[in-house]
Amino acid sequence: MSTATMSPSVVPSRPAPRPVVIDLDSRGPWPTLRARKADNTTVWLHAYQPHDEADQWLTASLRETDPPVIVVIGLGLGYVLEALERRGSRATVLAFEPFPDGLPHFHARRDWSAWTDSGRLHIVAGADGDGAAAWAAIDPEVMPPVLVNPSLARAFSSVVASCRMALTRARFGSRLDLQTVEVKQSMLHPAVLTAIEHFAAGATGPIIEVGAYVGGATIAMARGVRDVGRTTPIITIERGGAYLEHPQLPSADICADLEHNLKVRGLDTFVHLHRGLSTDAAVLDLVRDTVAAHGPIGLLCLDADGLVQRDFDLYLPWCAAGCVLVVDDYAATGLHEKALSTQQGVQRLIDAGKAFSLGVHGYGTWMGLYHP
Ligand SMILES: C[S@@+](CC[C@H](N)C(=O)[O-])C[C@H]1O[C@@H](n2cnc3c(N)ncnc32)[C@H](O)[C@@H]1O
Repeated sequence: MSTATMSPSVVPSRPAPRPVVIDLDSRGPWPTLRARKADNTTVWLHAYQPHDEADQWLTASLRETDPPVIVVIGLGLGYVLEALERRGSRATVLAFEPFPDGLPHFHARRDWSAWTDSGRLHIVAGADGDGAAAWAAIDPEVMPPVLVNPSLARAFSSVVASCRMALTRARFGSRLDLQTVEVKQSMLHPAVLTAIEHFAAGATGPIIEVGAYVGGATIAMARGVRDVGRTTPIITIERGGAYLEHPQLPSADICADLEHNLKVRGLDTFVHLHRGLSTDAAVLDLVRDTVAAHGPIGLLCLDADGLVQRDFDLYLPWCAAGCVLVVDDYAATGLHEKALSTQQGVQRLIDAGKAFSLGVHGYGTWMGLYHP
């Protein structure tokens, strides 16, 4: 056939190469999964001694707790389920497996029928898998911890972020839907809260928040830190007062509501609340001492009065290269004073070559990476 008669739509094309190829590696004492990336680097999804790794992972993430439901991102060959068995846990597991090519190896490694037949294991395949049916079947009363396979967290952060977003979507319409005000306790969009939880989980230095209100973003940060099993300090700065006119989230005592919201979720011990302004000498001393002890800031979240430049001037000198910046009120409907000053502060930073923009998300929250 001459090419002249061939319509472009029928030209046979090779399938696009898969960005990650998964196969089984049985050379060590225990089988593991191997992920080969498009750049030809290889990542093993379990450690050489995967049972020890899974035990340590659960000890760090769950501590002494025994939650009835657990979300796992990165099921791999299922060593984490055996670690739960060894702990005597009866938890139901909702597993997001971003690499479905590993699932046949998971099923072949041992008999999981005690898990699957009793409805204690639900698997969502693919980084953007639809977990709504599984979530609805479990219907947890309180938000379960989200445990991320350590190798996945290190090597595939964006894949983990996709799974977190899939989890947020799976919750839509349920009693833990992050779109409902009672659950999110925040003025921020659910996708932004999910991103904040993800960034907090990955933060290697202290987390500083200015403007917590009743704790929506603070809850997300504290969950991220708790579930990854780190002790990353979180300092949240809130001037307090009352906001009775707020249409969805009125508060007669902002700091009291913030403390209450953290306490009922068991997250209060992860957060140091400074009741006052971001300019207070006491909190500047606290942040300076925290940075001296734990290293530079890894996540800076500004959602206060729009005077972003003031808080950039105060806190950016303590931020690490690559620190995640989350700045709300970048965009707003209508001409909004806060948005103008926020855009100016952010733009100045970008123009100076000191920030890489990750874009504007949700209801108008800018995110970026700091490059001093
Ligand atoms: C938009 S709300 C924060 C919303 C919150 N991030 C959330 O997830 O819903 C702004 C908060 O910043 C606080 N605030 C304003 N200026 C401040 C400042 N200079 N220092 C500390 N807190 C401030 C206000 O009291 C208010 O609670």
